[in-house]
Amino acid sequence: MSGGAAQGLSRRAVVAGAVAGLAGWGWPRHGGSAAERTGPTPIAAPRDPVTHDIAFLARERPTRILGADGPTVPLWSYAETPFPILRARVGDRIRATLENGLAEHTSIHWHGIRLPNAMDGVQHVTQSPVGPGERFTYDFTVPDTGSFFFHPHCNESGQVGHGLAGLLIVEGDERRRPDAELVLAVKDWRLDEAGRFLPFVTAAGASRAGSFGTVRSVNGKRRESFEAPAGALVRVRLYNLDATRVLDVGATGGPAAVIAADGTRIDPVPLDRTGRETWRLGPGMRADILLRMPAAGRTVELVDYRGAELWTIATLTAVKSGTPPRRFDPDILLPARYPAPDLGKAERLPFVFQAASASIAAFEAEFPPGDPLAAMLLDSLCVGGEAYWSINKSSWPTGDHRALPPPLAELVTGKSYVFELTNATPHPHPVHLHGHIFRVVASSSAEQPLVAGDTVLLGPRDRTEIAFVAAPGAWMLHCHVLEHLETGMMGWLRVA
Ligand code: C2O
Ligand code: CU
Repeated sequence: MSGGAAQGLSRRAVVAGAVAGLAGWGWPRHGGSAAERTGPTPIAAPRDPVTHDIAFLARERPTRILGADGPTVPLWSYAETPFPILRARVGDRIRATLENGLAEHTSIHWHGIRLPNAMDGVQHVTQSPVGPGERFTYDFTVPDTGSFFFHPHCNESGQVGHGLAGLLIVEGDERRRPDAELVLAVKDWRLDEAGRFLPFVTAAGASRAGSFGTVRSVNGKRRESFEAPAGALVRVRLYNLDATRVLDVGATGGPAAVIAADGTRIDPVPLDRTGRETWRLGPGMRADILLRMPAAGRTVELVDYRGAELWTIATLTAVKSGTPPRRFDPDILLPARYPAPDLGKAERLPFVFQAASASIAAFEAEFPPGDPLAAMLLDSLCVGGEAYWSINKSSWPTGDHRALPPPLAELVTGKSYVFELTNATPHPHPVHLHGHIFRVVASSSAEQPLVAGDTVLLGPRDRTEIAFVAAPGAWMLHCHVLEHLETGMMGWLRVA
């Protein structure tokens, strides 16, 4: 499959098993004829699961991301284009070999997908780091549909900051087909004017809301624009891949509704005055939005309303089509398949996200100042030099830092849990649980929709409850502001 951005209307989306470049646009691959696309269509015929054999080579690939005459930026990526898309169908097997062409160790964590713990890609916890020149093969079956992604799990602010991330889209959730699909991955870059990377971690950022990027981008570009047939239904898979930034996404110019949160079906929520006018996405979170194109010549815009200045994520222009407009009924997805927690029997566990009580300066004090061994040990444990944050008063890592800290909690496989998450800070924290899909069952904030997901945004001082059925393994629980998880706001759960 070619890696270039393909935006032609006639382009078919990625063939099973291939890795595409960040091709935003494509007819769903089970597309059918134009006539079939004008009305509700039956569920696509199930097919036998297939195995997707993928090779990723993580390395530096200098890329122009600031326009044709801009500087070349030393991006890190898994494939020839940034943010490759791996598409599978629910039930398929993924066999992805990571080859490390970087000068530091890495891994691939599959964010949001339920998988065997040994495939979760967390250095020192579920696997040994993949050193420079080494390989590791991830092999798992995808049990859920949705919009997932993948990224390394050590020096995340640096590796993801350089661009190392990809998207995993698992198809098979459409009861009725939209006419087209658009993938939008939003991420800021920390670049100076010459196109050099700025430090990814700053004390001021890490100890507060995080260090913001200097250049906004979508799909690695400054802006995206597309054309789609007038009256067509378009499914947008919107990813917040940023390390820091919270988005408030709205749509103008046509009816639109959020149909999935973190890839999992929700009861559709209109993005207008009858529902929510905007949808909030913390770092690591995704929303699938269904929208209908207006009359030919008009546009739909997806806009981030959160910043002081509005930012247009993408513009879709309607072009003439030979078919009448589709009816706007956003309830197009099949029910999700993740195990439903039993709220009556669930055990409740509190988790308080707050500033660190102790710093790891004590650890560094064991070594002469500037001792490379101290730096090496810190690096090998995937921690920063400072601990600003904690979960239940424990900062990652704790104790003598040379071994895995004790788990935040011990859970039992198959049992239901309610986690009471309290944000005792004045900053937002998107809290991510590995290897599970949870339901948000209560929140002190009216801002917090009670939906499914793998990452939940805790606003300042919020108290939010999530419920799930525990799967076996060692699973990380952390804030997805990358500087926060690297400065203490991370822990793990042991599920036996
Ligand atoms: Cu996307 Cu542990 O993270
Ligand atoms: Cu945080």
